[in-house]
Amino acid sequence: MIEAVIFDLDGVIVDTAHYHYIAWKRLASEFGITLTPAHNELLKGVSRMRSLEIVLSLGNIQLSDSEKEALADKKNKWFIEYIESVRPEEIFPGVKEMLVDCRKKNLKVALASSSKNAPRVIELLGVANLFDTMVDGTMITHTKPDPEIFLLAAKRLGVSPDKCVVFEDAEAGVVAALAAGMKCVGVGSPDQLRRANVIVKQTSDFNLSNLDKL
Ligand code: BG6
Ligand code: MG
Repeated sequence: MIEAVIFDLDGVIVDTAHYHYIAWKRLASEFGITLTPAHNELLKGVSRMRSLEIVLSLGNIQLSDSEKEALADKKNKWFIEYIESVRPEEIFPGVKEMLVDCRKKNLKVALASSSKNAPRVIELLGVANLFDTMVDGTMITHTKPDPEIFLLAAKRLGVSPDKCVVFEDAEAGVVAALAAGMKCVGVGSPDQLRRANVIVKQTSDFNLSNLDKL
């Protein structure tokens, strides 16, 4: 029996994945690199520094650690500017209702986002009270595809990993969820998410009554 549901943030609860994309695209263009949506799939779910390294590798660019830190900061400043306009209405359709429904069904609810900006996004959306625990990029050593973030979320909920279901839009996130011994609902395109137990187009397309069938 499933006892907990763990949600990724960017691309699962709200379309902030788009803001990450345009910020990386802007940075890439400064190096003459054209970042495509296909490249962007590789950046989803992984850490800020790992994302930067992937972007730079597209242009065969090698930089020192301090230069990379400066670029990661620059991208993050743009991202923070973009997200300041996020409003509660921007939560994906049906997701708030789904979080409420989880509680009604006595399921524990966690957020597990690789983003260090997750607390700010959740604050802007005004949904912090709908989670029993939140784990973000500041609390972990290894980001997805490592299972650490999901295992930590399960531990904080007091639920065994095999009784958790993860909602993820990133290939790295699906890999992490399965490595944690959890079930995974992929949100988005089967091209990247084929390893998930089930794939839906939007988070709220998944019917919570089917959790135990995964
Ligand atoms: C993940 C995003 O949620 O957070 C990644 O999918 C992003 O694209 C990562 O790189 C880290 O985010 P931040 O906000 O700490 O730079
Ligand atoms: Mg995501």
